[in-house]
Amino acid sequence: MAETVKLIYGNKEYELPVVEGSEGEKAIDISQLRATTGLITLDPGYANTGSCTSSITFMDGEKGILRYRGIPVEELAEKATFKETVYLLINGKLPHREELTRFSVLLNDNSLVHEDMRAFYENFPRSSHPMGILSSMVNALRSFYPELQNLDEEINMTVTRLLSKIRTLAAMSYKISRGHKVVYPRPDLAYCANFLNMMFDSPVRPYALDNDVVNALRVFWILHADHEQNCSTSAVRLVGSARVNLYAAISAGIAALWGPLHGGANQAVIEMLNDIAQNKNMGQAIERAKDRKDPFRLMGFGHRVYKTYDPRARIMKKMCDSLLDKLDLTDPLLDIAKELEMVALKDDYFIEHNLYPNVDFYSGIVLRAIGIPTNMFTVLFAIGRLPGWIAQWKESLDDPNWKLGRPRQIYTGPTQSKFIPIDDR
Ligand code: SDX
Repeated sequence: MAETVKLIYGNKEYELPVVEGSEGEKAIDISQLRATTGLITLDPGYANTGSCTSSITFMDGEKGILRYRGIPVEELAEKATFKETVYLLINGKLPHREELTRFSVLLNDNSLVHEDMRAFYENFPRSSHPMGILSSMVNALRSFYPELQNLDEEINMTVTRLLSKIRTLAAMSYKISRGHKVVYPRPDLAYCANFLNMMFDSPVRPYALDNDVVNALRVFWILHADHEQNCSTSAVRLVGSARVNLYAAISAGIAALWGPLHGGANQAVIEMLNDIAQNKNMGQAIERAKDRKDPFRLMGFGHRVYKTYDPRARIMKKMCDSLLDKLDLTDPLLDIAKELEMVALKDDYFIEHNLYPNVDFYSGIVLRAIGIPTNMFTVLFAIGRLPGWIAQWKESLDDPNWKLGRPRQIYTGPTQSKFIPIDDR
């Protein structure tokens, strides 16, 4: 017998079905609520509202669990390539060798962007933020490539084209913003190494690929690859629900990720740590973060779902130590970050609010060690998150219950009134 909940409203009693997921999560199905009771629900920020059922990523915010298609992210970070993780998220299974080889060939064959796209870059102001450029350029891809057909093969072609070209688009914005020669993708380099080479190779100083740096980028992108219905993924699903092309839906996801409360936090963390380093004001930062009247937040701390340590932050923190050690580098901001974490996790305010480091708290230190400029940190997040956005978008296309996203509201404005001619106002 399916479980139900009772709703008593007025002098009527309603029974609403309960939906249960494969990990025991439960939800009240309110899809018929307004039709049967005339009521809607109200949930600003959707903290208590599920938008869909999904079989892609499972998170347990209380236990700090994150799994992609059932595989723990810790295991993927240790054993998988980023390409395998991309394939797993989008196709629902790890690829066997021939599938991976075919995927690699397609990624390589689609890694160039149309030469006419350079004109767009050259006309952005040099000070443009790389996230604004990336969102625009991904949207512009639609103009250079045919509308998405309904053929399954065409979707896979469009998906692979975007997965490959996003690296090239990102590296081009870095090179052109500096007036440097654009470096083309190379057929002999795998996904992560190709991106690093496009970013840092130069005609006067060939880029020496370091396996530890390539590995750090692999882990960084695996950790960022998906995170169920976060803000930017929800943007991709909502925009995609209008049946717009993939590029436009992903462009919306990039725009949402840019926000400092979301993916933009990785850049904001470094800016916060730099400010603490220069002004020696860690105590003041902690006190400001605790002051409800002060809009300042401890960037890289807190999470809508994780009420314990973000499992990705744990891996990222270890990666900071191992990468800096292997590269024989030190970063004063890492010491500040560790001290800030120690102080905050002992503070009653952070304990009572279940505020712990999230993925963005240490990720910037890793990106600094790789040589990524701070204003491109969220671009790196976007490249990592692209497979998750695509997987979620594809799942919504295939979902028989999926429809145009259109939330309701409770109106609190003026009741009916008359137009007053200007001479009588
Ligand atoms: C990402 O959703 C995802 O999965 C996102 C992400 C992904 O992979 O897609 O994990 C990536 O976006 C990580 C989060 C990056 N953002 C930051 O690090 C910015 C700083 N964090 C906060 O702004 C905040 O924690 C949010 C926005 C991330 C989550 O906040 P919520 O769930 O909306 O909770 P809230 O803002 O209502 O805060 C609840 C309480 C408030 O205090 P009270 O009013 O109840 O007294 O906690 C406090 C907040 O003031 N609080 C913080 C805080 N975060 C929450 N106080 C100080 N510093 C913080 N960082």
